Amino acid sequence: MAERKIIAVVGATGAQGSGLVRAIQSDPGGGFTARALTRDPASAAAKELAALGAEVVAANVDDVESLKRAFSGAYGAYCVTFFWNHFSPEKELAHATAMAQAAKATGIKHVIWSTLEDTRRWVPLDDDRMPTLMGMYKVPHFDAKGEADEVFRKIGVPTTFLKTSFYWDNLIHFGMGPKPGPDGVLAFTMPMGDAKLPGIAAEDIGRCAYGIFKQGTELVGRTVGIAGEHLSGSEMAAALSRALGKPVRYNAVTPEAYRGFGFPGADDLGNMFQFKRDFEADFRGARDPKVARGLNPALQSFDQWLAANAGKIPLE
Ligand SMILES: NC(=O)c1ccc[n+]([C@@H]2O[C@H](COP(=O)([O-])OP(=O)(O)OC[C@H]3O[C@@H](n4cnc5c(N)ncnc54)[C@H](OP(=O)(O)O)[C@@H]3O)[C@@H](O)[C@H]2O)c1
Repeated sequence: MAERKIIAVVGATGAQGSGLVRAIQSDPGGGFTARALTRDPASAAAKELAALGAEVVAANVDDVESLKRAFSGAYGAYCVTFFWNHFSPEKELAHATAMAQAAKATGIKHVIWSTLEDTRRWVPLDDDRMPTLMGMYKVPHFDAKGEADEVFRKIGVPTTFLKTSFYWDNLIHFGMGPKPGPDGVLAFTMPMGDAKLPGIAAEDIGRCAYGIFKQGTELVGRTVGIAGEHLSGSEMAAALSRALGKPVRYNAVTPEAYRGFGFPGADDLGNMFQFKRDFEADFRGARDPKVARGLNPALQSFDQWLAANAGKIPLE
């Protein structure tokens, strides 16, 4: 059998990376094998990946030398940063730079960089439709990712820029599921008005990334945007009602109200939803479900995702 090409997966125990490891390991004839990067190879999540046949190696995005060791001998690398672990765009930029440097030093043939828009190209800092956050950002968890695109280009790494979408899994893990309103009826809150939100099952991001690696280097230098479906808040509420078997109302608050909710990152997410609402055509245009389905024929709709996951959504 021909030797399988190694894909080094950053964040392999997380939402995006684990989906990619599972996609690679469930296709043993596909010509690839996964090398899962983790800070702790002894963790339960890392052991699950080893049980799938993935090679598990220790690496930390704070340490470029550990990334070079982990990328060494690999054909491809999946690069993602972890904003919600530290809330620092500067750290994201530093981590992206370390991954690009490690990819360059080890001669990686194909990097997929999990990116998002630098919203300051649409909303300059002096545009006061939304507040400037952390001194120099509009949507901190987007802007540094978009800024880092240029780092991969400048360092000269063969990169596909993968624009991801809102994970529907946020309804389970990120406190974004419907909650009872004052009248006891479940309310799904989002400051998007009637605009449609591109969403995706987190598992499908990794499957789409696998589709990109399988196309060879055809997509190097290109930006690929993915989503499972684009749905309005009312459409999401209707789907939730069907799946949960009880009424769910769409609670379309203003971005100002959302920013004021007070949980960590509420201002960042309020700006994010406002950006997606105000620049709906550009944001949706960059994320075509047909493109995602071409890369990943098993792409799930919101209804399919709910059929498997609605029971896991906390409703309190
Ligand atoms: N939620 C959404 O809707 C959404 C949509 C688009 C993009 N995003 C972006 O997705 C990114 C997060 O990706 P994710 O959801 O796949 O992450 P995740 O599920 O939160 O997992 C994070 C993983 O990162 C690893 N990690 C954390 N710090 C590390 C470090 N210093 N060095 C090496 N590995 C480290 C952890 O692995 P170990 O503990 O095993 O080391 C963990 O498995 C964020 O930047 C976010 O902005 C999110």
